[in-house]
Amino acid sequence: MEFLFLLAAGCLGFRLYSFVRWKYVGNQLPGPPSDMWFGNLREIKQYAGFFDYLPSMHKQYGKIFRFWMGPTNLIVSINDQEILAETVPLLHQRPETARKELGWLGKESPTFKCHEELREIRTTIMPLLVGKSLDYLCLVGRGRMEKMLDNWAISPHGIRAEDVLRDTTFDIIGVTLFGQEFISTSLGRSFRSLFVEVMREAHPRSQEIIPAVWDYRYWRWKQKIRKLHSCAEELIKQRRCSSKTSKRKDLLSLLLNEKDENRELLFSDEQARATIVTFVFAGFDTSAASLTWILYLLATHTDAQRKAQREIDCILAGRPPQLEDLASMSYLTCVVKEGLRMYPPVPEALRKIDFDIQREKYFIPNGATLVIPISTLHADAENWEKPYSFVPERFDSMHERKQPRYSYLPFGAGPKSCMGARFAMTEIRLMLSMILQRFSVELAPNQDVVPEMYSIILQPKYGLKINVIPRKADMMNV
Ligand code: HEM
Repeated sequence: MEFLFLLAAGCLGFRLYSFVRWKYVGNQLPGPPSDMWFGNLREIKQYAGFFDYLPSMHKQYGKIFRFWMGPTNLIVSINDQEILAETVPLLHQRPETARKELGWLGKESPTFKCHEELREIRTTIMPLLVGKSLDYLCLVGRGRMEKMLDNWAISPHGIRAEDVLRDTTFDIIGVTLFGQEFISTSLGRSFRSLFVEVMREAHPRSQEIIPAVWDYRYWRWKQKIRKLHSCAEELIKQRRCSSKTSKRKDLLSLLLNEKDENRELLFSDEQARATIVTFVFAGFDTSAASLTWILYLLATHTDAQRKAQREIDCILAGRPPQLEDLASMSYLTCVVKEGLRMYPPVPEALRKIDFDIQREKYFIPNGATLVIPISTLHADAENWEKPYSFVPERFDSMHERKQPRYSYLPFGAGPKSCMGARFAMTEIRLMLSMILQRFSVELAPNQDVVPEMYSIILQPKYGLKINVIPRKADMMNV
């Protein structure tokens, strides 16, 4: 009995010592004062998410600062490309904090796998997201865009850009990666409405210090997640039974058929389900947010808009864009890159630090979370002249080369970087070229366009309303 008591006291003492040491080591780093239990959670809530919080703290505390999310969750933000360039390639995992925000994707989601576990999966999936495979994206995208733009042509009262773009990018990623049934069956439609409902609630839920198990809405949300996953399972089941399975070369058929070297299926059903949910999440809102911000920038910079239209008219001469055309739209590409710099849809990326880092006077302990403050790096006056001005030319081939590595990271970096970067760049240019070919855009009057983080994505807080003005056919046929 005495021995058990001593053992319990020893364990408790050790835990207490670890806690005090962890707090002590963390607090040696510069950073704002924090509450013992809540850390800095309450003050972060007063900002528009990390998008505001990180630059403001970096300004006050320098290139490296720490904050606490709760009593023990130590987060370190590093706004220094040299340290990031040395460290990020070695970090392979997302931290627990990411699970809190994105746990609803499913525990088998590729985003929670470390690079080693993901290597084979990445190698299998990547060919579908690059090169000639993007022809199919263009084919699907053109069809969905024509439908959207025909509706714009009969919308005299302006467009809620973020809503319509979100609908279209959802359809495009859904059909391209998972097949026509994604939009044409009642199952696909249920998946979509559940997806939006679950995602909407995921963000406020992730801000709770402990899960609100006493609140019936929490359980209703959990139930919706289960239904969402059942829908994804049903999509898998239907595709398995479909006679067309072997002919299709989309992500879903790959998830169902790919075998490893031992001729075992590469993806279990649970992995396939979580991969579907993850790719839809990673791909549709990010692309819609980018397009929304780029349209906002073009509506407020008419010279750039005209220049992009001239380029599009010259290359397309009134016909729909093909994959090869997009590569030759160099000014439009600069516009997209500059848009992603000023309003990166994912303004920061997280990593679990799994070794001690000693850099000059700073010691960052193993187990802390690293924030790569993408939006702060993009606005750093040391690397960008007039960082708050919209200057697409800074990405032309002559200037872009001079930019330091790790000063521009819209798709993250290292082994956990975005898998869909090329897919996204193709989709955004395709959609933009089709919009600007048929319409000019203007900002609708009297609106406050304020960036705010919603979930992990930067959105205009009150939405974005634009007026679309049809262009004359003879202007497009240069
Ligand atoms: C403009 C659009 C997009 C932006 C700005 C964007 C940005 C990002 C960023 C910043 C990350 C985290 C990277 C890191 O931690 O270093 C990420 C992860 C990811 N993205 Fe994208 N993304 C976009 C579109 C897409 C699309 C279209 C797809 C799929 C077709 C996609 C698939 C993924 C996946 C699967 C991950 C998780 C990778 C992992 O955890 O290993 N993304 N994205």
